[in-house]
Amino acid sequence: MSQLANNNQYFAISPLIIRPNSCAEFGVYLRHENYYVLFNAGGRTFTQDKRQELVNNNVLQVYIANRDRDLYRHYLLENISGVLDDESIPVAERAQAWTNSATVLGKELFEDNLPGPAFEKRYLRFEKLIESTATFLQSPKSLKHLSSLINKGYETYHHGISTMVYAVTLMQEFEYDEYKTLTCGMGALIHDIGKTALPAEIINQDPDKLEPDEQDILALHPMVGARTCATFNLPTIATNCILFHHERADGKGYPTKAVSSDLPMHTKIVALANTYDNLTRNQPYRKALKPFQALKAIMEDDGATDKILLKKFIELLSRAKIT
Ligand SMILES: [Fe+2]
Repeated sequence: MSQLANNNQYFAISPLIIRPNSCAEFGVYLRHENYYVLFNAGGRTFTQDKRQELVNNNVLQVYIANRDRDLYRHYLLENISGVLDDESIPVAERAQAWTNSATVLGKELFEDNLPGPAFEKRYLRFEKLIESTATFLQSPKSLKHLSSLINKGYETYHHGISTMVYAVTLMQEFEYDEYKTLTCGMGALIHDIGKTALPAEIINQDPDKLEPDEQDILALHPMVGARTCATFNLPTIATNCILFHHERADGKGYPTKAVSSDLPMHTKIVALANTYDNLTRNQPYRKALKPFQALKAIMEDDGATDKILLKKFIELLSRAKIT
C-alpha cells in the first residue's frame, strides 16, 4: 500500500524508537521518492527481523501518518523506559521522545483546575517517567538536548516539566540517593499546582506589576498547592518542594520567610530551578532570557539563592554547554 507524498500528512521518527517485538497500533511507512509505502501495518508485531531489515538498509527515518499521532504518543508512553535506556538511539531522538511523553502526561496532570480524584493516578504515571528520566540524564548531552526542547510553552505543566528536569539534574550533582532525587523531581513537577486555583489574569501577568492585593493572592499558591496534595500520600520531600519554592536564602521570600540555613537543600534546588526556568521561558509578559543572561540576573539578585548551589548550577550548565 502506498500513498503519494504529502509532507503534511506524515511525520518522521527514528526507526529505533519502535521497540523490537512490540505491537504498535499505528502503521509505519517508508518513503520512496514521492510515495509513502506501508512497512508495518498497525496492530502487527514489529519483529526483530523487521527492525534489522531497516538497520541493514541504513534507513534513518520512518514515517507515521499524522492521523495516528495520538496512537504514537500512547505507544511512546508505554515504551519510554526502553527508548530512553537504548543507547543505540541518538540522544537527540531520545530527548524528543521523552519530551513527547512528558508533555502528554503533564497536560493530563494539570487538566483539572484543582486536582481532582484522577490526579493521584496520573501523578503516579509520572513517577515512572521521572525514574527513567533520572537515568537518561546521566547520558552525555541529554541535558543539552532536553533543555532546548523543554523551554517552550506558557502552560503550568510546561514549566513544571522543565523545573523537574533541572531539579533532578541538580539533585544528581549533589549525589542525593534515588528516593530523594525522585521525590524532589515529583515536587518540582507539581510545584505550581496551587496556581491552577488562581484566576488566569493574575498568573499570566508580570508578578512585579500586580496590585498589592493581587500579589497577596499569588503568594498563596505554594500553600494552596501543598494543602491540595495533602489529600493524597505525597512524600514530605515533595510537599516541602511545593511549599518552599518561593523562599529566598536571605529570608525575603514567601510564604514562611525562612532563611537559607532553615531550608533543606532539595527545596532550595527547586526554588533555583523554578527561577531559572521562569527566566529562560517566554512569558506572556516577557521574552525569554538566554541562559547566561538568566544566570547573570540570578547572581545579581543578591540573597536570592544559596551561593554554593548557584555555583554548582553554573558549573553544570557550562559543562552541558548550555549558554
Ligand atoms: Fe510558583
